[in-house]
Amino acid sequence: MCGIVGYVGYRNATDVLIEGLRRLEYRGYDSAGVAVKTEEGLKSLKRAGKLKRLEAALLEKPISGSSGIGHTRWATHGPPTDENAHPHLTEDGKLAIIHNGIIENYAELKARLLARGHRFVSDTDTEVLVHLIEEHFQGDLEAAVRQALSEALGAYAIVVLHQDREEIIAARTVSPLVIGLGEGENFVASDVPALLPFTRKVVFLEDGEMAVITPDAVRVSDLRGHPRPLRTTEIEWSLEDAEKGGYPHYMLKEIHEQPWVLENTLGGRLDEANGEVTLDLTLDPTAFDKIHVVAAGTAYYAGWVGKYLIEKLARIPVEADIASEYRYRDPLADERTLFIAVSQSGETIDTLEALREAKRRGASVLGVINVKGSTITREADDTLYIHAGPEIGVASTKAYVAMLAAMTMVAIWLGRARGTLGAEETRQLIGEMRKLPRLAEATLAQQEAIERIAAKYHQASDFLFLGRNLHAPTAYEGALKLKEISYIHAEAYPAGEMKHGPIALIDEHLPVVVVTPKGPWYEKTRSNIQEVKARGGRVIAVATDGDEDVKGDAEEVLYIPEVHPLLSPILAVIPLQILAYEIAVLLGRDVDQPRNLAKSVTVE
Ligand code: AGP
Repeated sequence: MCGIVGYVGYRNATDVLIEGLRRLEYRGYDSAGVAVKTEEGLKSLKRAGKLKRLEAALLEKPISGSSGIGHTRWATHGPPTDENAHPHLTEDGKLAIIHNGIIENYAELKARLLARGHRFVSDTDTEVLVHLIEEHFQGDLEAAVRQALSEALGAYAIVVLHQDREEIIAARTVSPLVIGLGEGENFVASDVPALLPFTRKVVFLEDGEMAVITPDAVRVSDLRGHPRPLRTTEIEWSLEDAEKGGYPHYMLKEIHEQPWVLENTLGGRLDEANGEVTLDLTLDPTAFDKIHVVAAGTAYYAGWVGKYLIEKLARIPVEADIASEYRYRDPLADERTLFIAVSQSGETIDTLEALREAKRRGASVLGVINVKGSTITREADDTLYIHAGPEIGVASTKAYVAMLAAMTMVAIWLGRARGTLGAEETRQLIGEMRKLPRLAEATLAQQEAIERIAAKYHQASDFLFLGRNLHAPTAYEGALKLKEISYIHAEAYPAGEMKHGPIALIDEHLPVVVVTPKGPWYEKTRSNIQEVKARGGRVIAVATDGDEDVKGDAEEVLYIPEVHPLLSPILAVIPLQILAYEIAVLLGRDVDQPRNLAKSVTVE
């Protein structure tokens, strides 16, 4: 997720762009750049690293002009370097673009453009767009952008600037864009915070809309050129509220970003036609006879789900282990072992030291990581980035579902290469995966119902979470979310284990959350629900839409849409995230910075 700012008006565009980018750095900080229309034509400056490096460069080489575009990057394609920083320009330097999102068919477009003589200077997917627009540009910038976008697949928010044109063009599909309306000046940005120093009158561009922006006018149309109304909104948020997108907490904002995050994690990697995933990994998936998936906290639960997925699809033995335990158990890792380190921050010292232990024993290391360029990515042999964007809330939410999506793709990558997973079965699974962003959206729509349930149980002193097979880790993740932000004691157990002890805990005071969407585990887990109910336990079930049977056993039911059983952990966790959040809010907890916790645990 990147930060985008555009400006046309009477001020020095560079000042507006830098001020706006400062307020968007929470969206990404791998590199930053500007392109400004000056008296001598388009001038651009960009630097890898944080925004302050670009600001220092601008002090040495000031740029001023009446319109411009600026970008702060959360790298997805290509490492964070000066060349890969946005804006991207055409060879003649007359046309510039900034982009947030992923162009899924960029490789095919790039091959076509290279064959037609275009020369590329970056590894990014974005650069294909500026060359495509250049190909179509005959003087009408709006038409050229529209034609270029008709060839691009994927998620994008773009702003385009041409040195011979007064207007800037903005367009979005999936990734957000908001226009700021001023007097004799207008603005566009990825998010409201960048606009607040200048205006509170905004227009949220809808999906599939484009805007032609000049200092005195903003005209909106759809991508086919049909006019669309200008829906103006007055922003009442404070700046801090705005950085949370109007949500009261980063955690809730990040819970609601999950549909977009899934789009980003999966984007460009699902080859449905050929029944493949394209992960751009250098490791040889056939080179291993066992796998160790090692992580901490929420990441460990994602790795535990990954164990089930890999064993199911790739038929290779997998051990999922807690990083701080792995290091001291004299692990049986060797040259034929693939060690998968799962980590949002890429800095968790327990996971890093476990990785080093495995490497010392000859294992190959794959990182499943969110933060680009983090320590684990530098020590791993290869990295699959989860593209969840910066996660600010200490309690991990969107990174967890992104990890699950990534581990599903790793399981397919291994299964297809090892011949244990056929193309047809993969095509079906990929077809189901493509539905996930929309199904996650539908799951989020239950927030109000869950708020009511939270009010009913928020004074409980203990919770028990139960789940079976793929949903044992879901239960553990749900319990962790509740523990870490509400401070209520919450214990998780594999549902089948309950009768071996924890059943003694059951009474009419104990809420028991049972995760039982439809799948091979369903019947047995329903029996567990009845065992709990028979002892007066108060059951909150997570079940599949339309499941009327569970209704008879449970006091409350949190529903998720029907989905392939192997993908159900991605949806089943969402109601548990919201339940934990709503209970913590009712208890007045510091949801984004819970006591005693840190976002990244870099001490052992
Ligand atoms: C999850 O909500 C916690 N913040 C914590 O368990 C976290 O998942 C764990 O510290 C691992 O962090 P990492 O993913 O950055 O390695």
